[in-house]
Amino acid sequence: MEKSQNISFSYKEFDKIEELDPDDRELVSEAREAAVHAYAPYSKFRVGAAVRLESRTIICGTNVENSAFPSGICAERNALSNTVSNHGNDKPVAIAIAAMTENGLTNDPVSPCGNCRQVIAEEELKNGNHIRIILSGKKRTIVIESISSLLPLQFNLRYF
Ligand code: THU
Repeated sequence: MEKSQNISFSYKEFDKIEELDPDDRELVSEAREAAVHAYAPYSKFRVGAAVRLESRTIICGTNVENSAFPSGICAERNALSNTVSNHGNDKPVAIAIAAMTENGLTNDPVSPCGNCRQVIAEEELKNGNHIRIILSGKKRTIVIESISSLLPLQFNLRYF
């Protein structure tokens, strides 16, 4: 029998960064600072990601582009690869993402690409906790409680 299903999710939206809780605000400023150091000579779109670990340590990453375009990597995956490589016993609990064009910070929040969503999903599942996702632009910031909202019906290790 055919059934219509519906997937929806709720998230929080803030007009001003000052309205965020202090931990989230700190993570956003780390992501914004990281974006400044991105290597993005081709797209000129600089992205910064800041991951907060359970221990409260913050690990940042930026996008690093390459003249052979597919060799480039996103900020989120750089930050998360660093946490896995160097802080394997410490779980990511939140990630903030910020991006800049040549005109400065983007007005709207920038959302992680599909590859990065998949990598965040792997982290959530292997560690057994949700990772708060904080997407911040100049005009507004949104906070999503788990990657499952951004990647519904995901492929993951449960299938193995
Ligand atoms: N980029 C990221 O770093 N994160 C994303 O989630 C989306 C895209 C980077 C990849 C590339 O260096 C530039 O932004 C333009 O796509």
